[in-house]
Amino acid sequence: MDVADGGAFAGGVVSVAERSQQSFAATADRNKSRSTATAPGYYPMVQDHIKPGRKTRPMEPAETLAKLIAPCDISAPEFYLIECAAHGAPWSRTSFNDCTGKYYRTQALYVDQKPVGFTICRLVADEVTLMNIAVHPEHQGKGYGALLLKDVLNYASDKQNQPQYKVFLEVRESNRSAIALYRKYGFQDIGRRPGYYPPVPPARKKETAIVMRR
Ligand SMILES: CC(C)(COP(=O)(O)OP(=O)(O)OC[C@H]1O[C@@H](n2cnc3c(N)ncnc32)[C@H](O)[C@@H]1OP(=O)(O)O)[C@@H](O)C(=O)NCCC(=O)NCCS
Repeated sequence: MDVADGGAFAGGVVSVAERSQQSFAATADRNKSRSTATAPGYYPMVQDHIKPGRKTRPMEPAETLAKLIAPCDISAPEFYLIECAAHGAPWSRTSFNDCTGKYYRTQALYVDQKPVGFTICRLVADEVTLMNIAVHPEHQGKGYGALLLKDVLNYASDKQNQPQYKVFLEVRESNRSAIALYRKYGFQDIGRRPGYYPPVPPARKKETAIVMRR
């Protein structure tokens, strides 16, 4: 199958986790036991769960949220708002809106029916290029970036879960969280493009791109 034939778009809705009575019941049980615990210092502070450099935001009970990854119209205003909030040097509105048509796969992650992140992939022959992935800063660090990346990797894999298409991407050398995410999911560095990215204000120097492949 040609990767650009839109195979993923037909019925490509992937439910990654669904609200279930069970998970509500489990959460309610855990909360009940928490509220009756009296041992001082028993529970670690929320910050103790967070790696250095992570934002110290209280965790949401992610298992109680309905999450859905589905194809989206990336030119809808809410996605450009996420783009501008997440990136220090966002794409222009025009570049963003141009990512439509059969050579693009655009997916959104909805949490309780609200979009919180997206991916944009370009599809050519047997290659998938992850052009953009972003999670709104208010929702970063909750595993949503990983869900979105896994959706791309699932798309690029065959039914036996073996890589079917090569997946490429570029990332700013300074973007430690994105690089950590990509390495975690098996991407390897295959090259560098010095001066590829425009500076993120207030910096004035262009930045090197690391090219990665999986
Ligand atoms: C990169 C981005 C998509 C990650 O999304 P996220 O929802 O915050 O990431 P997750 O919570 O799913 O974390 C998944 C993995 O990413 C890495 N990661 C995420 N945030 C990190 C941070 N602040 N520091 C180090 N590693 C981090 C870790 O490997 C993490 O796995 P772990 O939790 O098991 O350690 C998000 O930070 C983002 O939108 N950044 C701005 C846009 C951007 O830079 N996009 C990439 C362009 S190439």
